[in-house]
Amino acid sequence: MSQRNVVLGVTGSIAAYKAADLASRLTQAGVSVHTVMTESASKLVTPATFRALTGQPVAIEMFDLSSPFSIEHVSLAEIADTLVIAPATANVIAKLAHGIADDLLTCTALATRAPILIAPAMHTAMWENPATLANVETLRERGVAFAGPAVGRLASGGHGAGRMAPVDDILDEIGALLGRHGSLAGRRVVVTAGGTREAIDPVRFLGNRSSGKMGYAVAAAARDRGACVTLISAPATIHRPAGVHVVDVTTADEMLAAVEQALPGSDVLIMAAAVADFAPAEALSTKAKKGNAPLRIDLRRTPDILQAVRDVPVKVKVGFAAETENLIANARDKLARKNLDLVVANDVGARNSPFGSDMNEAVLVSRTDTTPTPRMPKRALADLILDRVVALLENA
Ligand code: CTP
Repeated sequence: MSQRNVVLGVTGSIAAYKAADLASRLTQAGVSVHTVMTESASKLVTPATFRALTGQPVAIEMFDLSSPFSIEHVSLAEIADTLVIAPATANVIAKLAHGIADDLLTCTALATRAPILIAPAMHTAMWENPATLANVETLRERGVAFAGPAVGRLASGGHGAGRMAPVDDILDEIGALLGRHGSLAGRRVVVTAGGTREAIDPVRFLGNRSSGKMGYAVAAAARDRGACVTLISAPATIHRPAGVHVVDVTTADEMLAAVEQALPGSDVLIMAAAVADFAPAEALSTKAKKGNAPLRIDLRRTPDILQAVRDVPVKVKVGFAAETENLIANARDKLARKNLDLVVANDVGARNSPFGSDMNEAVLVSRTDTTPTPRMPKRALADLILDRVVALLENA
C-alpha cells in the first residue's frame, strides 16, 4: 500500500468516528490519505482529527481558497489510486447512483477514473429500502466495490444489517483494489492454512499448535498482488481476510477434498496448513466418560495432500516444513519427495517458535538455492515467498 494515494470520503453516518481509525491505519501502512468530508460528517467528527491522523489537509468545501489545489475535486479525482467512501450514507449512495454532484465528495466521485469502494452504514430499514438496494445494484453493475454492511447492533439500539464493515475488512478490500494489477494479476492461487483437527469424540480432537497466521498472511498478500485466491482454512480464530474465497474445513480428509476441488485450473498451490499426519482410527459417536474411556487411541494415517495432488498440473507448488531438527536436510527431502518448487522451512523447536506469533523466520529451499530469511512479520515473509513464486511462474 505504501506510496499510494487514497481519497477517503467520510459522510454523515454515526459510524464516521470509525473512519478516523481507518485513516490512521492507512497512514501507518504508508498510504497518503486525502480526506474529503461532507458537511454533515464534519458535525460528527472534526476535520482536525483527520488532519492530525493523516498529516494531510482535509477538504470539505468546493471553493476553499486555502486549498493547495486549483480545482479541488478534479485534482483529488486524479491523484486517487482509489476512492473509498466510509461510512457511506444512503444519501451519498443515491447521489452516486444517479450521477449527482452537488458537493466536493460527489464531484470527486464523478470526476475520478480510480476504482471506488463503498462501506455503507445506515439503519436497517434504510439499507433494505428498495430505493437503496436498486442504487447499490446500479453501482455494482458499474464496477463499484462494496464492503459490508455488517449485521449487528445499530446506533438506534436495534439489531440488523447496516453497521459499517469492520475496518480490517475495509483495509483488506482497499489492499485488493490497489493491488489489482499486481504481479499475480490473472493468477489463481490456492492457499491452505491452520491446523486440521481429527475427532476423538464429539468434544475432543487431535490437533496442533498452528494458528493459521502464516497461511492467512500468504492469502492476503497474494490477493494484494491481484491474484484470485482460494483460502482453504482449518479452524482458526484470527481475522479472516476479505476479498478471498474462504473454504472452511476441519479434518485432513476434508482439506484434501477441498484442495482437489480447487486445484484444477489454478496456477499456484501454497500448502501452509499444518495437516495432521494421524487421526484416531475411529471417532467415538458419544462423549468418552472418565469411567469407561479407553486409555489408548488407535491411530490411522491421514492422506498426504501434497502427495495426493502430485500429478495435478499446477505451475508452482510450495510446501512448508515444520522441523525440530535437521531443518535444511528435511526441507530438501520434502522438496524432492513431494515434487515441490519451494519449501519454506521453519525451525519450530527454537525459542522463537513461530506458532501463534506474528513473526517468523525461515529458510527458503528451492531446487537451486537455500536462503535463510531474518525474523520478520509473517506478512513480510509472505511477500518474500510470493516474490519467489512470481519468479518461478515466469520460468514455468
Ligand atoms: N502436508 C500435506 N499432507 C499431510 C501432511 C503435511 O500435504 N498429511 C504438507 C504440509 O502442508 C506442508 C508439508 O506437507 O506443506 C510438510 O509437512 P510436514 O508435516 O512437515 O511433513 P511430512 O510430509 O508429514 O513429513 P514428516 O512427518 O516426516 O515431517
